[in-house]
Amino acid sequence: MRNTVATLAAKKAAGEKLAQLTCYDYTTARLVDQAGIDFILVGDSLGMTMQGYNDTLPVTLDEMIVYGRSVVRGTQNAMVIVDMPFMSYQISPAQALESAGRIMKETGAQGVKLEGGRDMAPAIKAITGAGIPVVGHIGMTPQSVNTMGGFKVQGKGEQNAKRVLEDALAVQEAGAFAVTLECVPPKLAALITKKLDIITIGIGASNACDAQVLVYQDMLGMSDRTPKFVKVFGNVGEQMVNAFKAYSEEVKAGTFPEVERTYAKSDCSDEYLAQLDKMF
Ligand code: KIV
Repeated sequence: MRNTVATLAAKKAAGEKLAQLTCYDYTTARLVDQAGIDFILVGDSLGMTMQGYNDTLPVTLDEMIVYGRSVVRGTQNAMVIVDMPFMSYQISPAQALESAGRIMKETGAQGVKLEGGRDMAPAIKAITGAGIPVVGHIGMTPQSVNTMGGFKVQGKGEQNAKRVLEDALAVQEAGAFAVTLECVPPKLAALITKKLDIITIGIGASNACDAQVLVYQDMLGMSDRTPKFVKVFGNVGEQMVNAFKAYSEEVKAGTFPEVERTYAKSDCSDEYLAQLDKMF
C-alpha cells in the first residue's frame, strides 16, 4: 500500500521518524521503494545531479514531468512528491495551480513541492484548494541562490530566525502537509518542529525534524561535491567505477564475454559456415 498524507501524519503522531530520499529514474526508484523509504522527492536538484548544471534554475516543468513519471512507475509503496521548477509557480497562484495540475495528471505523483514561505502562501493555498498535497520548502531555497548569494545557512541571527519561523507558520496556514527545512540551525529547526503540526523534513537542519531527506547520489558517494550535512552511507560511486574498470579490462583482454554467455547452440554446422565463407 502506498503511503499517503494520512499514513505519514499517523507515523508522525506515533512518534516515528520518516525517511525521504530524492530519486529521478525508474531503476533507482524500484531500489529506493524496496528499501522501505516512506516518501520520495523528485527534486529539481536533478538539474545538477542528472543534467550537470551548476544550479536548479534551468530545469523546466516538462523535464520534471518526464523524470516524475519514471519514478512513479518504479514505486508501489513510497509516496512520490515532484518538485515544481523555477518559474513554474512564482508568477501567480493561477500559474502555480496549472503547473501543479499538470504534474499530478501527467506523472501520477501524489503531491508537489515548492520553495518559499510567506510570499508563496497564496500559491500553496490555490494548489491545496484543488486537493493537491503540497510540501513547502523554506530556509535555504536553491531557486533563490542568486538573491542568497550562494548555498548558505539561513536563519542566522535573531531577525532571520524569526523570519524563518514566520515562513514555516505561513506555509502550514496555507495548507501544506509538510515543510522542508534546508540549512537551518538545529535549535531553530527544533523550535519550528515544536510549533508546527505538519511534518518537518530536515536537510542540514538536525535530527530535531520529523523527517530527513538527502539527495541519493550524495548519500551513495556518487557526487562531485558533498555539503557538510551529507553522510555517505555506501561507497556506491567507488564500486561503480571499479565495476566499469573491470568490464573495460576484460573487454580489452578478450575474456568477456565467456562462451557460456554466447548463443553457441544456435550456430550452424562448421561445414555450412565454411560454405558461407567461400560464397561471400
Ligand atoms: O531538489 C531537491 O532535491 C530538494 C532537496 C534537496 C530538499 O529540494
